[in-house]
Amino acid sequence: MRKLKILITYYSGTGNTEKIAYAIKESITGHDVDLFPVKQVDSTILSSYDIVFLGSGIYGFAINRKITSLIKKTLDLPSKFVYFYTHESSNPWPDAFKSIRGILEKNNCEVLGEFECCGENLKATEEQRQAAMKNLPPEKKKEMNEHYKMVKGRPNDEDLENAKKFAQLIIKKL
Ligand SMILES: Cc1cc2nc3c(=O)[nH]c(=O)nc-3n(C[C@H](O)[C@H](O)[C@H](O)COP(=O)(O)O)c2cc1C
Repeated sequence: MRKLKILITYYSGTGNTEKIAYAIKESITGHDVDLFPVKQVDSTILSSYDIVFLGSGIYGFAINRKITSLIKKTLDLPSKFVYFYTHESSNPWPDAFKSIRGILEKNNCEVLGEFECCGENLKATEEQRQAAMKNLPPEKKKEMNEHYKMVKGRPNDEDLENAKKFAQLIIKKL
């Protein structure tokens, strides 16, 4: 297999998605892999890559707009993309990258896969969490407390291992 040129770029406000980005980089061997936070990426470099991994946390139900604007600004898009994102909710966000879906479709870009996992919201204080649950019925409160416990410290080692396996599978399939 020829050596691929791969870019991993991401927005990460509190470091969760960045951990996934580094795990993905670590798992890909035998190819040229660059990793840059999205603010360091100039849109003109994208076309020099065979595959671009795009990552973000979920903020207000969507990926960060710096990712969207990078794709909007890029005149010559690479043909293959992979998405990864972290979120605090119990459910994944299948529409997380919908802000760029149309552009990629119009340019016949292929999305090879999508990785998601939970990431603790490190900006939320215990007081804010309790206040958000204050008026909930006891059952719902219990459910949310359990969810917060489950999300604490994530992405954890298992999430990072899963991200590595995911990336290896994507590359193997090419
Ligand atoms: C301002 C803000 C808004 C958020 N909105 C959502 C949301 O809509 N849905 C969700 O599941 N998580 C939400 N979260 C949680 C983050 O998606 C989650 O903690 C993610 O792992 C953060 O990634 P990062 O550390 O790479 O920034 C939000 C976090 C912040 C700080």
